[in-house]
Amino acid sequence: MTFEKSILCIGAGYVGGPTMAMIAFKCPQYKVTVVDINPDRIAQWNSDDLPIYEPGLDEIVKARRGVNLFFSTDVEKGIQECEIIFVSVNTPTKNFGAGAGMAADLQYWDKTARQIRECARSDKIIVEKSTLPVKTAQAMKRILTCEDNGVRFDVLSNPEFLAEGTAIRDLEDPDRVLIGSTQTPNGIRARDTLVEIYANWVPRDRIITSNIWSSELSKLVANAFLAQRISSINSISALCEKADADIQEVAHAVGTDSRVGNRFLNASIGFGGSCFKKDILNLVYLCRYYDLKEVADYWEGVIRINDYQKERFILKMLDALFNTLADKKICLFGFAFKADTGDTRESPAIFVANRLLEERARVVITDPKALENAMMDMEGVPGDISYEEDPYAACDGCSAIAVMTEWRVFAALDYERIYRSMAKPAFVFDGRNILDHQRLFEMGFNVFPIGKPGLTHF
Ligand code: UDX
Ligand code: ADP
Repeated sequence: MTFEKSILCIGAGYVGGPTMAMIAFKCPQYKVTVVDINPDRIAQWNSDDLPIYEPGLDEIVKARRGVNLFFSTDVEKGIQECEIIFVSVNTPTKNFGAGAGMAADLQYWDKTARQIRECARSDKIIVEKSTLPVKTAQAMKRILTCEDNGVRFDVLSNPEFLAEGTAIRDLEDPDRVLIGSTQTPNGIRARDTLVEIYANWVPRDRIITSNIWSSELSKLVANAFLAQRISSINSISALCEKADADIQEVAHAVGTDSRVGNRFLNASIGFGGSCFKKDILNLVYLCRYYDLKEVADYWEGVIRINDYQKERFILKMLDALFNTLADKKICLFGFAFKADTGDTRESPAIFVANRLLEERARVVITDPKALENAMMDMEGVPGDISYEEDPYAACDGCSAIAVMTEWRVFAALDYERIYRSMAKPAFVFDGRNILDHQRLFEMGFNVFPIGKPGLTHF
C-alpha cells in the first residue's frame, strides 16, 4: 500500500504514543511510525499489554497497528523514510551541573537532533512535541544545519496539551492545536503542512498559528496558569481548615463567576505529574536568566505552596495520630499522580510514602493501575512497605487511610467493612475530598478532609 505521507515520531512515551496513535486513527492515508531507543518499550507497544494505561488507547492502537501505525527500534531507517519527524523524547529537570534542579536536561533532545542530521537524506519538517525551554527550536535548527549535507530542515513548535487519563479525548477533540513557525516562506510552508495533518479532524478555527517562540512559551505558561489555580485553591484550603470554612463551598462560589470559571479548583494534597513542576521550573529558570527576579519569584511561589501542602498533610497526620506514627500501619489509597493513569511521576504519594517511612510507619500501598510504578519509585527506600491490589486487604489492621489519588473505586468501597478491619481509633485523611466525610464520621472514623475542619470523636 502506498501512503500519502510518512510521519515519524521519535520517543514512544506518554506523549508520542497516544498522539501518533490518534494521527494514524484519523488519517489512514498516512503511514505513522513511532521509534524509541528502549527495546522493551517498543516490544510493549507491539504487544497486548501497552506500556501506558490510558482509557481508549488500546482500541485505537489495536485498530491501526500493522495497518498504518508501526512501532520500531530502527530510528535510522525511520528518519530516512519519513517527511515529517515529531520529536517527543523526555526532557526531565536537570539533576547535575549548572541549573541543576531547575533547567531542562536537554541531552536526549540534543542527541536526537544530531541523529536526525546524520541520518537524513532528504528534506524534513521537524516538529517539537516535547516541552522545551523557549528558543530550543532555534538551537535545534542550528544543530541540524551546522553541516551542509544538502538537506533542508524546517523546525516547528507544536506543544502537546493533552492531560493524562483524558489523553484520547483531548487528542480527538482538543480546545486548540498550537503550531509555531518561523515567519519565512519555508517556515510558513512547513506550518501549513502540519496544519493540513490536524485539519483531518480538528476544526480549522481551533488550529492556532504563531511565531515559534510564542508557541514554545505558551506551553510553559498554560501549565503554569493551571498549576497556579491549584496552588491558589490549596493555599486557601489551609485557611479554611483554621477558619471553619469549607473549601468546596468557597471554590464553588468563586468558580461560578464566569470570569474565573469552575475547572481546576479542586483542593488536593498537591499537584503531581511530569509537566507542572518541570514547566514552572523551566519558566523560573528562564526569568532568572533574563534577570527578571520578581517574575521568577512569583512563579516559584506556585511550587512552594505545592510543597507546603504536602508537608502540611503529613504534619496533620502526625498531629492527629498522637504525634507518633512509629509502627502504625498506614494505607495509601492510590499512588498515581491522578486518577485514570498508572503514571506516578512527581506524584504527591511518593513524598507522603517517604515521609511516613521516615516516621517509621508501616506503609501499605494500593492502586488499581500504578502498583508497578510505585514499586520502582520506592525501590531501595528503607522501611516497612508493602503493595496490595485489594483495597480491603490493604486496610486490614491499619490505623489510618490516606487518600492520595481520586480513583472512583475508592469512593465506592464498603467502609463499614473497612472500619471493622482497622485498628482503633481509625483515621481517614482524604487528600482528594472524594469520600462522604459525614458518613465515615458517623461510622466511627476520625476524618480529616482537605480545606474543611476535621471530624473527630475526641
Ligand atoms: C497537565 C496539563 O493539564 C496538560 O494540558 C499538559 O499537556 C500536561 O500537564 P497532566 O499533568 O496530565 O496534564 O494532568 P492534570 O489533569 O493537569 O493534573 C495535574 C495534577 O494536578 C494532578 O496531580 C491532579 O490531581 C492535580 N489537580 C488537578 C488538582 O489537584 N486539582 C485540580 O483541580 C486539578
Ligand atoms: P513524555 O511523557 O514526554 O512522553 P516519556 O519519558 O514517557 O516522556 O517518553 C520519552 C521516550 O523517549 C522514552 O520512551 C525514551 O526511551 C525515548 N527516548 C529518549 N531519547 C531517545 C532517542 N535519542 N531516540 C529515541 N527515543 C528516545
